[in-house]
Amino acid sequence: WWSSVQPAPRDPILGVTSAYLADTHPDKVNVGVGAYRNDQGKPVVLECVREAERRIGGQELMEYLPMGGSAKYCELSVGLAYGEDAQVLKDKKVASVQALSGTGAVRLFADFIKRFRPESEAYLPMPTWSNHHNIFRDANVNQHTYRYYLASTRGLDFEGLKEDLKKAPNNSVILLHACAHNPTGVDPTPEQWKALSKLFKEKEHFPLFDMAYQGFASGDTQRDNQAIRIFLEDGHQLACAQSFAKSMGLYGQRIGCLSVVCDDAAQATVVKSQLEYIARPMYSSPPVHGSLLVATILSDSDLKTLWFKEVKDMADRIIGMRTALRKNLEDLGSKQNWEHITNQIGMFCYSGLTPEQVDRMTQEFHIYMTKNGRISMAGVTSGNVKYLANAIHEVTKA
Ligand code: LMR
Repeated sequence: WWSSVQPAPRDPILGVTSAYLADTHPDKVNVGVGAYRNDQGKPVVLECVREAERRIGGQELMEYLPMGGSAKYCELSVGLAYGEDAQVLKDKKVASVQALSGTGAVRLFADFIKRFRPESEAYLPMPTWSNHHNIFRDANVNQHTYRYYLASTRGLDFEGLKEDLKKAPNNSVILLHACAHNPTGVDPTPEQWKALSKLFKEKEHFPLFDMAYQGFASGDTQRDNQAIRIFLEDGHQLACAQSFAKSMGLYGQRIGCLSVVCDDAAQATVVKSQLEYIARPMYSSPPVHGSLLVATILSDSDLKTLWFKEVKDMADRIIGMRTALRKNLEDLGSKQNWEHITNQIGMFCYSGLTPEQVDRMTQEFHIYMTKNGRISMAGVTSGNVKYLANAIHEVTKA
């Protein structure tokens, strides 16, 4: 039956973790996957999550959730993403369903596009999170890329981006990273978001925001949703794929949300029913636990305040490691410009290392990172930052 099956390609991100785990070297470092570690290099469970667990412990029913998940969770989640006072929420124009983290949310939307706007072309930033390409491929949505990152400035290629989105056919679906762009750590400024919103209006493009890092960019969840608020203020319909993997450290709980802004409340009901109809044959209904945790935190002002503090602490630790990495490189006498390490935001540093230099990092220094030169700053600690800087210096010096 299966003799013709060939091995699947290694995942460019999760495959790095497998290689790291197989390495027995004592100094090995994993800055591949974007998963937060504390300064001792250990995974973290947030105190607000532990407290939410205590509150729901022993009382959780094991019943099925509805196909679209917990309505209470969705309402709280979308309130966080759009801002609780968003007019589209007051007008009940938003269809929202619980999703299997950010991946599941983007996938649901891609399937929805294929079913109801099959002629649509999807545009993804170049580069983007590698799994975006897999999602649109498997949903059979035509995908293209638009320019996003300019290697020469290690910043946003705003002119290229605008040019490509102008050239795209009207009514295209454009994937945007709401904040803390993965992998580059480069986001548009508020003025650039405003200009983009205008361009989207002219071209009648549909924005799909992937929001996997709300809180991780600035440490302030209501600052990190500014792109969405700008687009909403301009009256756009949009979709948003949220994930609580990073922001609440709920990686393995697979807790996310897909929301779609519709014309009116009646249309939102119809759209939600179709999203549920897509979910049903795939997984019937989403799991309970993550939605209970998030809803417990977001509906209690003390727990929410604690979460805000904890997400800011994580963001601040990462920002501190950016400063430390840059300083170590400069102290080592590196002649390269490392300003981008501190200019970029979010979990990742798009270092500019070439695939060959990345190979040397792994082979000579047992430092594991993705081939595109992305360093997960969440894996950098006071204990390994010097070692990391030294390795980067060794592979980049002439
Ligand atoms: C990453 O980019 O490292 C994370 O989003 C984890 C993943 O699933 O790829």
